[in-house]
Amino acid sequence: MKHLLSPLDFSVQELDELLALASDIATNPTKYNHHCDGKKLATLFYEPSTRTRLSFEAAMLNLGGSVLGFSSADSSSAAKGESVSDTIRVISCYADICAMRHPKEGAPMVASEKSRIPVINAGDGGHEHPTQTLTDLMTINELRGSLDNFTIGLCGDLKFGRTVHSLINSLIRYKNIKFVLISPKELRVPDYIREDVLEANGVEYKEVEKLEDVMPELDILYMTRVQKERFFSEDEYLRMKDFYILDKTKMELAKPDMYILHPLPRVNEISVEVDDDPRAAYFKQAQYGVYVRMALILTLLGLN
Ligand code: NCD
Repeated sequence: MKHLLSPLDFSVQELDELLALASDIATNPTKYNHHCDGKKLATLFYEPSTRTRLSFEAAMLNLGGSVLGFSSADSSSAAKGESVSDTIRVISCYADICAMRHPKEGAPMVASEKSRIPVINAGDGGHEHPTQTLTDLMTINELRGSLDNFTIGLCGDLKFGRTVHSLINSLIRYKNIKFVLISPKELRVPDYIREDVLEANGVEYKEVEKLEDVMPELDILYMTRVQKERFFSEDEYLRMKDFYILDKTKMELAKPDMYILHPLPRVNEISVEVDDDPRAAYFKQAQYGVYVRMALILTLLGLN
């Protein structure tokens, strides 16, 4: 039985197959309407979510399956002190596959050890978010036609942003990707990403503070929200929250074919005036999130 806890749980070849399936689903959605008839997905969300939980649910419904679950720790037995290990043993009796989001890093991994059904990490604290990475990879692949040879700028909260950590971990496996890490000093990527992921693999990267300085060299700009819920002090958050605001003026510095991605939710870091720019790809990205999760459910259930 296979789980998805980190994007590295799939080899590059397995990812290629998954993205090809997601792409086929995008072009022929009705072909897959009954692939999961009679199957159930449990969504165990101990932390807020809009896109991830609802796109998982939409994905399973599109495949003909059903969904059950909870959307906050308060409404589950976690509020009574139940451990994730006990919860997953029980959920294994009710569903065929589950997606778990948890504020504690490693919680989905702990669950997977006691689970009789595939566990998908739908975001664990500031650690990883592998299904967002699948979404990001599909988006880049669909927009550029390849996952090789580009310069990506990751901008914003690179310290707490789990989508950034998973995306870097995953993209280093492709050819000729250059990373530009754009953040205030306080929100730089964690040391383990810089040392054990980028430097240990001889990957080309640079760290800068000003977005304008590097804008012209980017092929993809991956914007992120300052992760309010992971800050220790409100003052520190307030000082950081509007550090970057991507607007029309800054977009004038970008290549005509530079795409903007954002895992969403957006707060202030992309001005709404940018939404009509043909290079703004973040809402398309949210749509790809459904197709890629459909492909993932099929793959983990062995129904592909
Ligand atoms: C991201 C997350 O939860 O990490 N959201 C998402 O799943 N699309 C990004 C964020 O919350 O900033």
